[in-house]
Amino acid sequence: MDTMRAVRAHRRGGPEQLVYEEAPRPEPGAGEVLVAVKAASVTPHELTWGATWTHNMDGSGPERTPIIPSHEFSGVVAATGEGVDGPGVGEAVYGLVPFTRDGAAAEYVALPATAVATKPATVDHDHAAALPLAALTAWQALVDHADLQAGQRVLVQGGAGGVGSYVVQLAAGLGAQVSATAGADDLDFVRGLGAEQVIDYAHDRFEDHVRDADVVVDLVGGATQSRSWSVLRPGGVLVSLPGPPDQQEAARHDARGVFFVVEPDRNALRSIAERVDGGQLTPVLDRVLPLAETRAGYEVLETGKRRGKVVIHVAD
Ligand SMILES: NC(=O)c1ccc[n+]([C@@H]2O[C@H](COP(=O)([O-])OP(=O)(O)OC[C@H]3O[C@@H](n4cnc5c(N)ncnc54)[C@H](OP(=O)(O)O)[C@@H]3O)[C@@H](O)[C@H]2O)c1
Repeated sequence: MDTMRAVRAHRRGGPEQLVYEEAPRPEPGAGEVLVAVKAASVTPHELTWGATWTHNMDGSGPERTPIIPSHEFSGVVAATGEGVDGPGVGEAVYGLVPFTRDGAAAEYVALPATAVATKPATVDHDHAAALPLAALTAWQALVDHADLQAGQRVLVQGGAGGVGSYVVQLAAGLGAQVSATAGADDLDFVRGLGAEQVIDYAHDRFEDHVRDADVVVDLVGGATQSRSWSVLRPGGVLVSLPGPPDQQEAARHDARGVFFVVEPDRNALRSIAERVDGGQLTPVLDRVLPLAETRAGYEVLETGKRRGKVVIHVAD
């Protein structure tokens, strides 16, 4: 059996369960590619999602431990399974691994060929790995779920974070008027991403600055979310990424409340790569850690203050 270096958890839990060790190297099945991972990224709360630990999105069914976390990556195709007509061996790709299977905190990952696209040519693997999950989430929130149109008003709750930094850039690039909330240290950073108005969430009330928004994209949840309904116009939409929004509140404000889980999508990954290569979308990296320190990457997500994504560098 071929092996590889990987980060795995043998029991359900938090970062403390992650160990850097030798693991079986996966084989690509029919319709799948095997990718030699160059870099991967980690996402807040990933280790609490049911899909991380079982074969079902809702977390039902038997545990599939040991598991490999981290579902977005950039790398090079090392082998293809039966029936794959692209990408080919040697092609640089980036993608999102379905959440119910092993992720990319490893030297190799196998996944459906339809879940990868050609990596943006103008950035390296570390930067490309900061895109698939987070930028796809931003894309699907704005384009697929909010049907954002040029000229509309968008409020991004959490505009400096892993996902929010792409929501701000994409919304501005799509011609929206963007307001965002962020911490005091991040105000200029978020303005630089394309927000016309940035509100310090700790010292100011967004309700005093935003009204009649067409779209709120909420990356924060809790009280921030429940306060957000009041700034939407009637018929507006609140897209929540931390969890399902309160449908009674949505009805009370004559608004739509949407939650979704980001899905692999080759066409959207292509659009994102085009925007990166065209200079309209910039990957945002908080820090880069070696594969052996993946556990520290997840710890940073729980404790530290960040701008953008925490990336795991796997191979040169
Ligand atoms: N449903 C899905 O498919 C999906 C996909 C991706 C992510 N998610 C979820 O979406 C959420 C955000 O993910 P992420 O990667 O963007 O997280 P992140 O990198 O931690 O970003 C969150 C941002 O929110 C800011 N923030 C904290 N409290 C705030 C407040 N009261 N008002 C405004 N901003 C505030 C943080 O700023 P500070 O640094 O100042 O604390 C940080 O910049 C997580 O819950 C994640 O699990 C869901």
